[in-house]
Amino acid sequence: MASQEAKELLSLGPSEVGSLNDGVNFRKNPEDGKCYIIYKSGEGIRACKNQCKHQGGLFIKDIEDLDGRTVKCTKHNWKLNVSTMKYVNPPDSFLQDELEVEVSDDGGLRLLELNPVDPWLVCVTYLTHACMELQLGGKRLMFDPWLKGPAFARGWWLLHEPPEDALDRMCAADLIYISHMHSDHLSYPTLKVLSERRPDMPIYVGDTSRPVFWYLEQSQVKLTNINVTPFGVWQNIDDHLRLMILMDGVHPEMDTCIIVDYKGHMILNTVDCTRPNGGRLPHNVDLMMGDFAGGASGFPMTFYGGKYTESWKEQFIRNERKKLLNYKSDLVRSLQPRIYCPFAGYFVEAHPSDRYIKDTNIKNSPVSLNELINRTAPDIKTWTPKPGAVLDLGLALRDPSNSAAITDPPAGAKIYKDSWEFSLYVDELNRAISSAIFKHPGWIQFYYTWAGFANYNLVVRMVETDDAFEPVAAGYDYLVDFLDLSFPSSRPDREHSYLEVTAHSRAVNAEWTLTLAFSASSVGNNRVFISFVQASFLFLCFCISVPELQRLLKAWQMYHFVLNKKKEREREKTFNAIRVGGKKRLGLRCIPCMKPNRKDKQRRRSGRGRISQTE
Ligand code: FES
Repeated sequence: MASQEAKELLSLGPSEVGSLNDGVNFRKNPEDGKCYIIYKSGEGIRACKNQCKHQGGLFIKDIEDLDGRTVKCTKHNWKLNVSTMKYVNPPDSFLQDELEVEVSDDGGLRLLELNPVDPWLVCVTYLTHACMELQLGGKRLMFDPWLKGPAFARGWWLLHEPPEDALDRMCAADLIYISHMHSDHLSYPTLKVLSERRPDMPIYVGDTSRPVFWYLEQSQVKLTNINVTPFGVWQNIDDHLRLMILMDGVHPEMDTCIIVDYKGHMILNTVDCTRPNGGRLPHNVDLMMGDFAGGASGFPMTFYGGKYTESWKEQFIRNERKKLLNYKSDLVRSLQPRIYCPFAGYFVEAHPSDRYIKDTNIKNSPVSLNELINRTAPDIKTWTPKPGAVLDLGLALRDPSNSAAITDPPAGAKIYKDSWEFSLYVDELNRAISSAIFKHPGWIQFYYTWAGFANYNLVVRMVETDDAFEPVAAGYDYLVDFLDLSFPSSRPDREHSYLEVTAHSRAVNAEWTLTLAFSASSVGNNRVFISFVQASFLFLCFCISVPELQRLLKAWQMYHFVLNKKKEREREKTFNAIRVGGKKRLGLRCIPCMKPNRKDKQRRRSGRGRISQTE
């Protein structure tokens, strides 16, 4: 690690020094345009950068201050007393980093900055969802930046308003850790900004069998410094900072968590892991952070019919959330971190089409988890973060009761988002939905084979509907047998779990995809109607994001156009043969047949085409 050094930021000649007034002076470095505040009094000269410690705003003279010692931030009105270098609003908050003032024999002056300023400093800033910034001496790390756009197609949106400088902070970080490939952690809208401004940002990911960056080469996001690290091996960033990525015991193919060690301070981030590192984790770390919310799956909100009554759903959700809360609390209590912070659960199903999901898919509150931990493990200090809030870990560890250890955003700062630029992102998704891939009859098989979800004793009937969930006249209506990924014309004779899915064409939401995987073994023979997702998007939304979807579409187009036409015709013939069998038994229409037959329509109108629970 490079040792601490002094850098000259501004130099004034004797005449410029002579022109300084008593009190506050603003001066600019003509070479780089950066501004500095110089305070002159009978006791000497003090100086600092003209940069607010909150979110980097510029200071101006505070005209309400008659003593001429205070400056006011133009962004959120924080006030700094430059004679003491203390922020006076909010009271008792930060100290401004002071510059060294070196006066030469000829009366000139130099402003010097020590770098790093506080080599021992360990501060953690919460930005949004699972995105934390760690300041470790002179280094800045960032976890899982999701700072703009939706996740899981248009299913999830940020609950919290990220600090205004969040993207700048991301681009100024020294390294970024991305825990896994879910789009609330691997956010392409966010990474697009990064790739434009810092394509060489060192990014660390675990060596999962499902790579975090699928198809990076072909994506629009160009990141050139991705470090895929083996599990359980320390990565030395410098002499004082190292990190280790660990796998999840339940989803080792995809989920990871991380331990950061800076000068003996240990920070454990378990992210979304269900059983991080198989349950073997370090005890007594200084800071532990992990998820808390639940509700990542849409199950069972989007199911109805059979046992899925509103009261059943409500009870189910309540029980599941309670189980999760107890599990998380037990984990924290067993590991005894000094400080615990619940995060990675600050999302909302904000799109108007998902109103029902939002209202019924109740999540755990971070406050409830912290209260439970406080009751059962009173020695563990807990932190419920607000966007932009800073935890001074050193201070908090020295004196857990010191309220100055946590600096909340200034009063009046926006905490919750109330607008999300839906059209910007949903239009892009809709453009993908109307892609040529959906015009070709063979695409469904191609897609399901590509997704590779198989070996489940589950049969699903997919019915394309309009927005009112009425079957579309020329829509899709087919069966998928997930045992062998076949597309039978009627349900197999063996015992099997069975779902019916109605999916409207334009709504896109990822949540149901999880549901299908998680509930396949327990749904039995229920008649179930799912409220969203074009049939084709079910698994797609679960595992890929928009750029990946576009790449898949391109791949599909390539696939389609290079196919031998003769083979294509032969396949059509085969499918048509299957259709005949399907029509006879269940009134279902086979995948490649785009036109429903007359009997299908009649059956739909009479309801006879649907499969009842007792069937
Ligand atoms: S940036 Fe200065 S008060 Fe927010």
